[in-house]
Amino acid sequence: MLKSVRSVVQLRKFEFNGDKRRLAACGDLKDLRLLAKRNLPGGVFDYFDGAAEDEWSLANNSSAYSKFGLIPKVLRDVSQIDTATTIMGQPVPFPIALSPTGFTRIAHPQGELAVARVAGRNSLPFTLSTLGTRSIEEVAAVATGPLWYQLYVWRDRGLSRELVQRAKAAGYKSIMVTVDTSVFGRRERDVRRGFTLPPKIGLETFIDGIRHPRWTYKFITNEPITFSAVAGRSDVDGSKAINLSDYVNSQFDPTLSWKDLEWIREESGLPIMLKGIQCVEDAKTAASLGVDAIALSNHGGRQLDGAPAPIELLPSVIDAVGDSIEVLVDGGARRGSDVVKACALGARAVIFGRPYLYGLGAAGELGVQWALDHITSGISRTMALIGETSIKNLSSEIIIKR
Ligand SMILES: Cc1cc2nc3c(=O)[nH]c(=O)nc-3n(C[C@H](O)[C@H](O)[C@H](O)COP(=O)(O)O)c2cc1C
Repeated sequence: MLKSVRSVVQLRKFEFNGDKRRLAACGDLKDLRLLAKRNLPGGVFDYFDGAAEDEWSLANNSSAYSKFGLIPKVLRDVSQIDTATTIMGQPVPFPIALSPTGFTRIAHPQGELAVARVAGRNSLPFTLSTLGTRSIEEVAAVATGPLWYQLYVWRDRGLSRELVQRAKAAGYKSIMVTVDTSVFGRRERDVRRGFTLPPKIGLETFIDGIRHPRWTYKFITNEPITFSAVAGRSDVDGSKAINLSDYVNSQFDPTLSWKDLEWIREESGLPIMLKGIQCVEDAKTAASLGVDAIALSNHGGRQLDGAPAPIELLPSVIDAVGDSIEVLVDGGARRGSDVVKACALGARAVIFGRPYLYGLGAAGELGVQWALDHITSGISRTMALIGETSIKNLSSEIIIKR
Protein backbone atom coordinates (compact mmCIF):
# COMPACT_ATOMS: atom_id res chain seq x y z
CA MET A 1 0.00 0.00 0.00
CA LEU A 2 2.69 2.46 1.18
CA LYS A 3 4.73 1.48 -1.85
CA SER A 4 1.92 2.25 -4.28
CA VAL A 5 1.19 5.59 -2.55
CA ARG A 6 4.89 6.42 -2.88
CA SER A 7 4.81 5.60 -6.56
CA VAL A 8 2.15 8.25 -7.24
CA VAL A 9 2.97 10.87 -4.57
CA GLN A 10 6.47 12.37 -4.53
CA LEU A 11 7.28 14.76 -1.71
CA ARG A 12 9.09 17.92 -2.71
CA LYS A 13 12.21 18.58 -0.60
CA PHE A 14 11.55 21.55 1.69
CA GLU A 15 13.80 24.52 0.87
CA PHE A 16 14.93 26.08 4.17
CA ASN A 17 16.39 29.19 2.52
CA GLY A 18 13.36 31.51 2.37
CA ASP A 19 14.73 33.60 -0.51
CA LYS A 20 15.38 30.51 -2.64
CA ARG A 21 11.95 29.13 -1.76
CA ARG A 22 10.17 32.33 -2.75
CA LEU A 23 12.21 32.69 -5.95
CA ALA A 24 11.39 29.11 -6.93
CA ALA A 25 7.73 30.09 -6.85
CA CYS A 26 8.28 32.94 -9.36
CA GLY A 27 7.38 32.21 -12.96
CA ASP A 28 8.32 35.50 -14.58
CA LEU A 29 9.46 39.04 -13.86
CA LYS A 30 5.91 40.05 -12.91
CA ASP A 31 6.11 37.57 -10.03
CA LEU A 32 9.56 38.88 -9.08
CA ARG A 33 8.13 42.41 -9.08
CA LEU A 34 5.35 41.33 -6.71
CA LEU A 35 7.89 39.68 -4.42
CA ALA A 36 9.87 42.94 -4.30
CA LYS A 37 6.65 44.83 -3.66
CA ARG A 38 5.91 42.61 -0.67
CA ASN A 39 9.44 43.06 0.71
CA LEU A 40 9.87 46.81 0.33
CA PRO A 41 8.10 49.72 2.02
CA GLY A 42 5.59 51.33 -0.35
CA GLY A 43 7.62 54.51 -0.91
CA VAL A 44 10.77 52.56 -1.77
CA PHE A 45 8.94 50.23 -4.15
CA ASP A 46 7.21 53.16 -5.85
CA TYR A 47 10.52 54.97 -6.30
CA PHE A 48 11.82 51.97 -8.29
CA ASP A 49 8.63 50.96 -10.00
CA GLY A 50 7.13 54.34 -10.84
CA ALA A 51 7.58 56.68 -13.77
CA ALA A 52 6.61 60.15 -14.95
CA GLU A 53 3.11 61.69 -14.98
CA ASP A 54 0.46 59.24 -16.29
CA GLU A 55 3.08 56.49 -16.72
CA TRP A 56 1.93 56.02 -20.32
CA SER A 57 5.48 55.64 -21.61
CA LEU A 58 6.27 53.15 -18.84
CA ALA A 59 3.36 50.91 -19.87
CA ASN A 60 3.93 51.45 -23.59
CA ASN A 61 7.64 50.55 -23.33
CA SER A 62 6.69 46.97 -22.49
CA SER A 63 3.42 46.60 -24.39
CA ALA A 64 5.07 47.86 -27.60
CA TYR A 65 7.04 44.60 -27.70
CA SER A 66 3.79 42.72 -28.28
CA LYS A 67 3.29 44.64 -31.55
CA PHE A 68 6.12 42.52 -32.96
CA GLY A 69 5.53 38.79 -33.42
CA LEU A 70 8.12 36.14 -34.26
CA ILE A 71 8.02 33.72 -37.20
CA PRO A 72 9.29 30.27 -36.22
CA LYS A 73 11.19 28.07 -38.64
CA VAL A 74 11.34 24.36 -37.83
CA LEU A 75 13.46 21.29 -38.55
CA ARG A 76 16.76 23.07 -38.15
CA ASP A 77 19.43 21.64 -35.87
CA VAL A 78 19.25 23.97 -32.87
CA SER A 79 21.33 21.86 -30.47
CA GLN A 80 24.01 24.60 -30.37
CA ILE A 81 22.89 28.20 -29.96
CA ASP A 82 25.42 31.05 -30.16
CA THR A 83 24.17 34.10 -28.28
CA ALA A 84 27.55 35.86 -28.00
CA THR A 85 28.25 39.26 -29.50
CA THR A 86 30.24 42.42 -28.80
CA ILE A 87 29.12 45.77 -27.45
CA MET A 88 31.45 48.67 -28.21
CA GLY A 89 34.17 46.12 -28.87
CA GLN A 90 33.66 44.21 -25.62
CA PRO A 91 32.72 40.54 -25.96
CA VAL A 92 29.54 39.51 -24.10
CA PRO A 93 27.89 36.08 -23.88
CA PHE A 94 24.41 37.56 -24.45
CA PRO A 95 23.32 40.82 -26.11
CA ILE A 96 22.31 42.40 -22.82
CA ALA A 97 23.67 44.86 -20.26
CA LEU A 98 22.55 46.34 -16.94
CA SER A 99 21.55 49.98 -16.90
CA PRO A 100 22.48 52.58 -14.27
CA THR A 101 20.06 53.14 -11.40
CA GLY A 102 20.47 55.78 -8.72
CA PHE A 103 20.17 55.11 -5.00
CA THR A 104 20.24 51.35 -5.52
CA ARG A 105 21.19 50.61 -1.91
CA ILE A 106 17.75 51.61 -0.78
CA ALA A 107 16.52 48.25 -2.19
CA HIS A 108 19.23 46.27 -0.43
CA PRO A 109 22.30 47.29 1.61
CA GLN A 110 24.66 45.57 -0.85
CA GLY A 111 23.15 47.70 -3.66
CA GLU A 112 25.45 48.20 -6.62
CA LEU A 113 28.02 45.74 -5.21
CA ALA A 114 25.50 42.89 -5.38
CA VAL A 115 24.45 43.81 -8.92
CA ALA A 116 28.04 44.26 -10.15
CA ARG A 117 29.05 40.90 -8.64
CA VAL A 118 26.21 39.07 -10.37
CA ALA A 119 26.83 40.89 -13.68
CA GLY A 120 30.52 39.95 -13.40
CA ARG A 121 29.78 36.28 -12.75
CA ASN A 122 27.72 36.34 -15.95
CA SER A 123 30.36 38.37 -17.88
CA LEU A 124 27.75 41.06 -18.57
CA PRO A 125 28.33 44.84 -18.45
CA PHE A 126 27.09 46.72 -15.38
CA THR A 127 26.70 50.50 -15.47
CA LEU A 128 27.34 52.51 -12.31
CA SER A 129 25.15 55.61 -12.01
CA THR A 130 26.43 59.09 -11.16
CA LEU A 131 23.77 58.83 -8.44
CA GLY A 132 25.22 55.50 -7.30
CA THR A 133 25.46 54.66 -3.63
CA ARG A 134 28.75 52.77 -3.91
CA SER A 135 31.86 54.46 -5.19
CA ILE A 136 33.51 54.00 -8.58
CA GLU A 137 36.41 52.22 -6.87
CA GLU A 138 34.30 50.01 -4.55
CA VAL A 139 32.34 48.70 -7.53
CA ALA A 140 35.53 48.16 -9.56
CA ALA A 141 36.97 46.12 -6.68
CA VAL A 142 34.18 43.51 -6.82
CA ALA A 143 33.35 43.48 -10.52
CA THR A 144 34.74 40.75 -12.72
CA GLY A 145 32.83 41.77 -15.87
CA PRO A 146 32.97 44.95 -17.98
CA LEU A 147 31.99 48.16 -16.19
CA TRP A 148 30.50 51.27 -17.75
CA TYR A 149 30.22 54.61 -16.00
CA GLN A 150 27.05 56.67 -16.42
CA LEU A 151 27.58 60.40 -16.42
CA TYR A 152 25.12 63.10 -15.53
CA VAL A 153 26.99 66.31 -16.25
CA TRP A 154 27.16 68.46 -13.10
CA ARG A 155 26.98 72.22 -13.19
CA ASP A 156 30.39 71.85 -11.54
CA ARG A 157 32.27 70.68 -14.65
CA GLY A 158 35.38 70.08 -12.57
CA LEU A 159 33.47 67.39 -10.67
CA SER A 160 32.33 65.76 -13.92
CA ARG A 161 35.91 65.69 -15.20
CA GLU A 162 37.10 64.19 -11.95
CA LEU A 163 34.46 61.41 -12.07
CA VAL A 164 35.30 60.52 -15.66
CA GLN A 165 39.01 60.36 -14.81
CA ARG A 166 38.34 58.19 -11.75
CA ALA A 167 36.23 55.81 -13.84
CA LYS A 168 39.02 55.52 -16.40
CA ALA A 169 41.66 54.97 -13.72
CA ALA A 170 39.51 52.27 -12.10
CA GLY A 171 39.28 50.33 -15.38
CA TYR A 172 35.77 51.22 -16.57
CA LYS A 173 35.39 50.43 -20.26
CA SER A 174 33.08 53.19 -21.47
CA ILE A 175 31.23 56.34 -20.52
CA MET A 176 27.46 56.38 -20.89
CA VAL A 177 26.25 59.97 -21.05
CA THR A 178 22.57 60.25 -20.11
CA VAL A 179 21.05 62.92 -22.34
CA ASP A 180 17.35 62.79 -21.46
CA THR A 181 17.53 64.58 -18.12
CA SER A 182 17.85 68.28 -18.94
CA VAL A 183 15.33 68.67 -16.11
CA PHE A 184 13.83 66.03 -13.84
CA GLY A 185 10.63 64.23 -14.94
CA ARG A 186 7.62 64.56 -12.65
CA ARG A 187 7.27 61.20 -10.90
CA GLU A 188 3.92 61.55 -9.29
CA ARG A 189 4.01 58.48 -7.06
CA ASP A 190 6.99 60.09 -5.32
CA VAL A 191 5.23 63.48 -5.24
CA ARG A 192 2.14 61.99 -3.55
CA ARG A 193 4.24 60.26 -0.92
CA GLY A 194 6.53 63.26 -0.34
CA PHE A 195 9.33 60.79 -1.04
CA THR A 196 12.86 61.87 -0.16
CA LEU A 197 16.23 60.16 -0.32
CA PRO A 198 16.94 58.80 2.21
CA PRO A 199 13.25 58.51 3.29
CA LYS A 200 12.20 60.95 6.03
CA ILE A 201 10.48 59.17 8.88
CA GLY A 202 6.90 60.37 9.27
CA LEU A 203 3.96 58.43 10.72
CA GLU A 204 3.21 56.80 7.38
CA THR A 205 6.85 55.74 6.76
CA PHE A 206 7.09 54.56 10.39
CA ILE A 207 4.07 52.26 9.95
CA ASP A 208 5.37 51.12 6.57
CA GLY A 209 8.71 50.33 8.22
CA ILE A 210 7.02 48.21 10.90
CA ARG A 211 5.14 46.32 8.21
CA HIS A 212 8.45 45.52 6.44
CA PRO A 213 10.69 44.55 9.36
CA ARG A 214 13.35 42.75 7.30
CA TRP A 215 13.95 45.81 5.12
CA THR A 216 13.79 48.18 8.11
CA TYR A 217 16.28 46.12 10.11
CA LYS A 218 18.75 46.10 7.22
CA PHE A 219 18.21 49.82 6.58
CA ILE A 220 18.92 50.92 10.16
CA THR A 221 21.77 48.50 10.87
CA ASN A 222 23.79 49.33 7.74
CA GLU A 223 25.93 52.38 7.05
CA PRO A 224 23.96 55.45 5.92
CA ILE A 225 23.24 55.73 2.22
CA THR A 226 24.80 58.66 0.36
CA PHE A 227 25.61 59.61 -3.23
CA SER A 228 29.11 58.22 -3.39
CA ALA A 229 30.19 60.49 -6.27
CA VAL A 230 30.05 63.46 -3.90
CA ALA A 231 30.62 61.65 -0.59
CA GLY A 232 31.77 63.94 2.19
CA ARG A 233 30.26 67.08 0.64
CA SER A 234 27.39 67.03 3.09
CA ASP A 235 25.46 69.77 1.29
CA VAL A 236 24.99 67.56 -1.77
CA ASP A 237 25.94 63.97 -0.90
CA GLY A 238 22.44 62.88 0.05
CA SER A 239 23.24 62.45 3.75
CA LYS A 240 20.53 65.06 4.40
CA ALA A 241 17.12 63.99 3.10
CA ILE A 242 16.65 65.47 -0.35
CA ASN A 243 13.88 65.63 -2.89
CA LEU A 244 15.44 64.08 -6.00
CA SER A 245 13.70 66.49 -8.34
CA ASP A 246 15.11 69.60 -6.58
CA TYR A 247 18.48 67.90 -6.36
CA VAL A 248 18.77 67.03 -10.06
CA ASN A 249 17.47 70.43 -11.17
CA SER A 250 19.93 72.28 -8.97
CA GLN A 251 23.02 70.07 -9.50
CA PHE A 252 22.94 68.89 -13.13
CA ASP A 253 23.74 71.15 -16.04
CA PRO A 254 20.78 71.98 -18.31
CA THR A 255 23.11 73.76 -20.78
CA LEU A 256 24.58 70.41 -21.86
CA SER A 257 24.73 70.22 -25.66
CA TRP A 258 26.24 68.25 -28.53
CA LYS A 259 29.50 70.21 -28.40
CA ASP A 260 30.18 68.96 -24.85
CA LEU A 261 30.70 65.43 -26.13
CA GLU A 262 34.16 66.39 -27.32
CA TRP A 263 35.56 67.19 -23.87
CA ILE A 264 33.97 64.08 -22.38
CA ARG A 265 35.65 61.98 -25.02
CA GLU A 266 38.98 63.79 -24.63
CA GLU A 267 38.86 63.58 -20.85
CA SER A 268 38.12 59.87 -20.74
CA GLY A 269 39.67 58.48 -23.91
CA LEU A 270 36.95 55.82 -23.64
CA PRO A 271 34.14 54.84 -26.01
CA ILE A 272 31.06 57.01 -25.52
CA MET A 273 27.45 55.88 -25.48
CA LEU A 274 24.59 58.38 -25.45
CA LYS A 275 21.63 57.06 -23.44
CA GLY A 276 18.29 58.71 -23.97
CA ILE A 277 18.13 59.20 -27.76
CA GLN A 278 14.43 59.43 -28.64
CA CYS A 279 14.20 60.48 -32.30
CA VAL A 280 15.74 59.67 -35.67
CA GLU A 281 17.29 63.13 -36.10
CA ASP A 282 19.31 62.84 -32.87
CA ALA A 283 20.40 59.30 -33.76
CA LYS A 284 21.73 60.64 -37.08
CA THR A 285 23.55 63.51 -35.36
CA ALA A 286 25.18 61.09 -32.90
CA ALA A 287 26.33 58.87 -35.77
CA SER A 288 27.69 61.85 -37.73
CA LEU A 289 29.69 63.00 -34.69
CA GLY A 290 31.37 59.61 -34.37
CA VAL A 291 29.71 58.63 -31.08
CA ASP A 292 30.39 54.92 -30.50
CA ALA A 293 26.90 53.84 -29.48
CA ILE A 294 23.44 55.14 -28.65
CA ALA A 295 20.82 53.70 -26.36
CA LEU A 296 17.29 54.44 -27.50
CA SER A 297 15.71 55.16 -24.16
CA ASN A 298 13.06 57.25 -22.44
CA HIS A 299 14.63 56.53 -19.04
CA GLY A 300 12.16 53.72 -18.39
CA GLY A 301 9.30 56.23 -18.78
CA ARG A 302 10.67 58.39 -15.96
CA GLN A 303 11.36 61.55 -17.96
CA LEU A 304 9.04 62.68 -20.81
CA ASP A 305 5.74 60.86 -20.54
CA GLY A 306 4.51 60.34 -24.10
CA ALA A 307 7.99 59.65 -25.50
CA PRO A 308 8.01 56.68 -27.89
CA ALA A 309 8.89 53.17 -26.77
CA PRO A 310 12.50 52.41 -27.73
CA ILE A 311 11.45 49.23 -29.56
CA GLU A 312 8.94 51.21 -31.67
CA LEU A 313 11.58 53.76 -32.60
CA LEU A 314 14.23 51.16 -33.44
CA PRO A 315 13.25 50.28 -37.06
CA SER A 316 13.26 53.89 -38.27
CA VAL A 317 16.55 54.61 -36.48
CA ILE A 318 18.18 51.56 -38.06
CA ASP A 319 16.85 52.65 -41.46
CA ALA A 320 18.50 56.03 -40.94
CA VAL A 321 21.87 55.08 -39.42
CA GLY A 322 22.45 51.54 -40.70
CA ASP A 323 25.48 50.09 -39.00
CA SER A 324 27.37 53.39 -38.76
CA ILE A 325 26.80 53.34 -34.98
CA GLU A 326 25.81 50.64 -32.47
CA VAL A 327 22.18 51.02 -31.45
CA LEU A 328 21.01 49.62 -28.10
CA VAL A 329 17.48 49.50 -26.80
CA ASP A 330 16.71 50.41 -23.20
CA GLY A 331 13.36 50.14 -21.45
CA GLY A 332 10.41 47.82 -21.17
CA ALA A 333 12.10 44.54 -22.09
CA ARG A 334 10.95 41.81 -19.73
CA ARG A 335 11.71 38.57 -21.54
CA GLY A 336 14.42 36.90 -23.59
CA SER A 337 12.05 36.98 -26.55
CA ASP A 338 12.03 40.80 -26.30
CA VAL A 339 15.82 40.74 -26.71
CA VAL A 340 15.53 38.47 -29.76
CA LYS A 341 12.96 40.83 -31.31
CA ALA A 342 15.17 43.88 -30.70
CA CYS A 343 18.26 42.16 -32.17
CA ALA A 344 16.24 41.02 -35.20
CA LEU A 345 15.19 44.64 -35.75
CA GLY A 346 18.83 45.73 -35.73
CA ALA A 347 19.72 46.42 -32.08
CA ARG A 348 23.17 45.48 -30.90
CA ALA A 349 21.90 44.73 -27.40
CA VAL A 350 19.16 45.42 -24.88
CA ILE A 351 19.65 47.16 -21.55
CA PHE A 352 17.66 46.29 -18.43
CA GLY A 353 16.86 48.41 -15.35
CA ARG A 354 13.88 47.47 -13.19
CA PRO A 355 14.21 43.71 -13.77
CA TYR A 356 17.42 43.58 -11.73
CA LEU A 357 16.05 46.06 -9.18
CA TYR A 358 13.04 43.82 -8.62
CA GLY A 359 15.47 40.94 -8.07
CA LEU A 360 17.54 43.00 -5.65
CA GLY A 361 14.48 44.05 -3.66
CA ALA A 362 13.04 40.54 -3.71
CA ALA A 363 16.10 38.55 -2.63
CA GLY A 364 19.37 40.51 -2.92
CA GLU A 365 22.06 38.90 -5.06
CA LEU A 366 20.03 35.70 -5.54
CA GLY A 367 17.18 37.77 -6.92
CA VAL A 368 19.43 39.62 -9.38
CA GLN A 369 20.76 36.26 -10.60
CA TRP A 370 17.18 35.00 -10.94
CA ALA A 371 16.30 37.98 -13.16
CA LEU A 372 19.34 37.45 -15.39
CA ASP A 373 18.71 33.68 -15.66
CA HIS A 374 15.11 34.38 -16.63
CA ILE A 375 16.22 36.70 -19.44
CA THR A 376 19.20 34.70 -20.74
CA SER A 377 17.42 31.33 -20.73
CA GLY A 378 14.56 33.05 -22.55
CA ILE A 379 16.97 34.27 -25.25
CA SER A 380 18.35 30.76 -25.87
CA ARG A 381 14.89 29.16 -25.79
CA THR A 382 13.41 31.70 -28.21
CA MET A 383 16.33 31.23 -30.62
CA ALA A 384 15.76 27.46 -30.59
CA LEU A 385 12.01 27.86 -31.10
CA ILE A 386 12.41 30.17 -34.08
CA GLY A 387 15.05 27.86 -35.58
CA GLU A 388 17.99 30.30 -35.50
CA THR A 389 21.35 29.26 -34.08
CA SER A 390 23.28 32.54 -34.05
CA ILE A 391 22.24 35.88 -32.63
CA LYS A 392 24.33 37.54 -35.35
CA ASN A 393 22.13 36.01 -38.09
CA LEU A 394 18.88 37.44 -36.76
CA SER A 395 17.12 39.72 -39.22
CA SER A 396 13.78 41.46 -39.56
CA GLU A 397 12.61 38.52 -41.72
CA ILE A 398 11.66 36.71 -38.53
CA ILE A 399 9.48 39.62 -37.36
CA ILE A 400 5.82 40.00 -38.14
CA LYS A 401 4.31 43.40 -37.33
CA ARG A 402 0.94 42.97 -35.67
C1 LIG B 1 14.97 53.44 -9.81
C2 LIG B 1 15.60 53.87 -11.07
C3 LIG B 1 16.70 54.71 -11.03
C4 LIG B 1 17.31 55.11 -12.21
N1 LIG B 1 18.43 55.89 -12.15
C5 LIG B 1 19.07 56.24 -13.29
C6 LIG B 1 20.27 56.98 -13.24
O1 LIG B 1 20.78 57.30 -12.18
N2 LIG B 1 20.85 57.30 -14.42
C7 LIG B 1 20.33 56.92 -15.65
O2 LIG B 1 20.89 57.24 -16.69
N3 LIG B 1 19.19 56.21 -15.71
C8 LIG B 1 18.56 55.85 -14.57
N4 LIG B 1 17.42 55.09 -14.63
C9 LIG B 1 16.93 54.63 -15.94
C10 LIG B 1 17.52 53.28 -16.27
O3 LIG B 1 18.91 53.39 -16.48
C11 LIG B 1 16.90 52.66 -17.51
O4 LIG B 1 16.91 53.61 -18.54
C12 LIG B 1 15.47 52.18 -17.31
O5 LIG B 1 15.30 51.63 -16.04
C13 LIG B 1 15.16 51.16 -18.38
O6 LIG B 1 13.84 50.74 -18.31
P1 LIG B 1 13.39 49.37 -17.59
O7 LIG B 1 13.43 49.66 -16.14
O8 LIG B 1 12.02 49.18 -18.13
O9 LIG B 1 14.34 48.27 -18.00
C14 LIG B 1 16.79 54.68 -13.46
C15 LIG B 1 15.69 53.82 -13.50
C16 LIG B 1 15.10 53.41 -12.33
C17 LIG B 1 13.92 52.48 -12.40
